[in-house]
This record gives sequence, structure tokens and C-alpha cells, in this order.
Amino acid sequence: MKRRNFLLSSSTLMLSLTIPKISLARVNKNYFKLTAQLSKFKFDGKGNKTSNLWLYNQQSPGPSISVDKGKQLIVEFKNLLEEPTTIHWHGIRNINATDGVANLTQPPIEPGETFIYKFPVNDAGTFWYHAHNKSWEQVSRGLYGPLIVKDTSPIGFDRDITLVADDWRLNKDYQFDEKSLGSLMDWSHQGRLGNWLTINGESNPKITIEENSNVRLRLINASNARTFNFKFNNYKPEIIALDGAPCIPFKRSSFQIAPGQRIDFLLKINNKNLNLFENSTEKPYPTAIFEVKKSSANLNKVINLTNLKKWNKFPKINQAEIIDIHMQGGAMGNLSSAIFNGEKKSLRELASKESKLWALNGEIGSYNYSIADIKIGKTVILKIWNDTSWKHSMHLHGHHFWVNSLEFSKKTKMVMRDTYLMKPGEKVDLVFQANNPGLWLFHCHMLEHAASGMVGVISIS
Ligand code: C2O
Ligand code: CU
Repeated sequence: MKRRNFLLSSSTLMLSLTIPKISLARVNKNYFKLTAQLSKFKFDGKGNKTSNLWLYNQQSPGPSISVDKGKQLIVEFKNLLEEPTTIHWHGIRNINATDGVANLTQPPIEPGETFIYKFPVNDAGTFWYHAHNKSWEQVSRGLYGPLIVKDTSPIGFDRDITLVADDWRLNKDYQFDEKSLGSLMDWSHQGRLGNWLTINGESNPKITIEENSNVRLRLINASNARTFNFKFNNYKPEIIALDGAPCIPFKRSSFQIAPGQRIDFLLKINNKNLNLFENSTEKPYPTAIFEVKKSSANLNKVINLTNLKKWNKFPKINQAEIIDIHMQGGAMGNLSSAIFNGEKKSLRELASKESKLWALNGEIGSYNYSIADIKIGKTVILKIWNDTSWKHSMHLHGHHFWVNSLEFSKKTKMVMRDTYLMKPGEKVDLVFQANNPGLWLFHCHMLEHAASGMVGVISIS
């Protein structure tokens, strides 16, 4: 009996690795059902006890939602958690009412309630969805999944693979470490860093790919605070999109991906296996294996990257509205006091009494903190100065911005994204056209930083 169970579970495991998971969430073409609830999950460590997580449809990551560009996506969402939640569709230039920010764009969805998200998806690319109420806790417990908007014109990929990376903090029994949630130590430093790396919920999964195939690889960083330093061995694939938006292709074998970010690659598979490693620690940590097998299929078609449609041109900036944002706070920082609820307080007091640690322009950020009121149609330059000792992964809701990125080399590269990784001390301009009305968050996607003050609202009307 036991043996049979073992075989059963190991064979389903194999299947799930070689065949992309078929989404149980799909009701029909553009209609999906998601349920958030307490779920059991087994991390595949040695002392593998079952762990309690909060998941969508009892899967980690949540089911892949994929829909054609230009369609209306409908997600019927049921909250079976014991606390309120919402879903944010990260990277979608959404209508404000369905952006999913609890207490800003909608009331929180209470336990037992159902909420229907319905919005058009007008950009093709790699996105993701995640809880947006107490995100620092709900996302860390597993409430996220991939959202793929498919191109309508053919590009010629033989395979399309999505990998969702997460950095869990597990205890010695390989269970989600609840006790350390909310640690001020984490909040004042880089955020909640983990000790267990998963790709699509597994450690170092093996993915079978065909020799001579052209693969579109979509990589999503769903971790709370970890910037991964990934490296492909044997290959130098082309980066073709950042945060969903197509870019001028460039080759990279090592790269960083910060919390909230996505990178799409074109992988031209030859006869060599490909391994993905994480390089933050001294020894490269095996992350995923792509095992090449021979195939008689008609592969390696002509790739037509021009069918990856650019979203927008860089806007005219001569009339732009300039908004300065000075980021301060955290451990080893220069912030001694800040405004909180209209009162000036010492950082020491704010940290110990309110768990607030970070400030924008001298004020502890929150959903009540207005960064700017912008007239619709304006071009905006957010002039950001990371005056802290930490990296920050700055995310804007409802828009993508142009940025002269220093993420890929010492030379700047003009790219379009929705989440930008800033080095300590870096000053950067994020340029966007304020063409989407509503209340939009701008925050650090190191979710503990956002919870402790690195957040504000840009209002566009
Ligand atoms: Cu992906 Cu406000 O977040
Ligand atoms: Cu941050």
C-alpha cells in the first residue's frame, strides 16, 4: 500500500516536471476560478514534514492563467482564508478598480466572500498575480501565480516555459517558518530572506527539452525580498522582454532578477544540457536542469522577434512633470526622524512602536501618503534617489516606465519595465506617461520595506 502510494506520487511528480501543468483553474477560454485557502504542501527536503501554506487552488505556485492579448480576462475569486485578501495583477496596465490593492482600489475581500475580477489585457507578455493585503505575509505564505498574456501574431517558439522562483524561509523540519514573520531585523535590513529556493514549487527540477528547439523561457521572481543572481551554464541566451515588455534583444548568461521582476529569454537549444545556478552564496546553487533529448519533430523554425510588438515609444519629456523622491531609512541609514501621521517622530520610536523604518521625502509612506497629483496625459519623471544602504526593487502600478538601467552592466541601457532594482546610493529617472486614471501605488517590492514605509500613492485624473 505504502509502496504503491510512493510510486504513484513519484510518477505524478515526473509528469508535472515534463508536461506543463494543466491549469485546473480554467472554466472556459478567458474565465478562471481561483480560491485562496490554507493548504498542505511538502517541500522536498530531507526532513520533509508537511507544511501549512496559503495557496491558490492548493498549488504552489498558483495555477498559470493564460489568455490571448486583447481579450477580457475574468477571474472568479473566492477567499477561504481566515483573513481578508485581494489579488493584484502585477504589470497589467489595469483599470484602477480591478488593480486589487486592498483599502486603496477596493475594499478587502472578507473570508467566505467571492469577488469577480474582470479586465481587458491589452499587452502581451509575462505577468504575475499575488495577494495585495498584508502582502509581506500573504505572498510569503504562497499566494501568487503566473499570468501569461499571449501574443496574437506567431513568433515561432517551439516551447513556452514559465519558471516561478521563490525564496522560502523554512524551519529545521522543512516547514514554512511562521515564527519569524514580522521580524524587525528583516524589515530594517534587506527584508525576509529565505533559505530554500524553489522553481515552480520544486528544488532543482528537471525539465526535458528537445534538441534544436527554440524555447521561450519566462522567469518570474515571486520572492519577498531576494534578488536572485542567476547564471546559465553552456548557454548565453537572449533577453527579449523585461517585466512583460519586449526590449531590444541582448545576450546574457548571468543576470539579476529582483522581487516582482520578470525576464523572458529566447533559448536556442543545441545538444548540450543547460543548468541554471544561483550565485549569491559562495558555491553556485543548482536551481533547474534543462535536459536535452533528441527529437524527430520539425523544430527550430524561423523566429520572428519583430512580432514581439513594442508597447510604447519613449515619450517627449520637454513638458514633463518632475517629481523628486528621496528614499531614506533602514539599518545603517541617515534617517533620524520622519513624519508619521502628521507628527515628527524619531526613527527609534517609529521602529519600536510602529514597525516603521523607511521614508519617502521625509515621511513614513503609506496609502495615505500622496507622492503626486498628476493631470492625465502628462509625462512624468520620477527622480529617485536611493539614499539608503540597501537595494530596493521599485514598482509602479498601472504603468510601465522607461529607465536608463544599470542592472545589466556598468553601461546604462534604456529599457521599459514596471519594477526597477536600485543599488544603494543610486539616482535614477523613471519616465512614464500618466495615461491611466486612478490611484496608483509606487512602492518597494521588497515587501517588508513597503509595509514599513516605502510606499506612496500617485493620483492621476
Ligand atoms: Cu506586485 Cu503593489 O505589487
Ligand atoms: Cu526596499
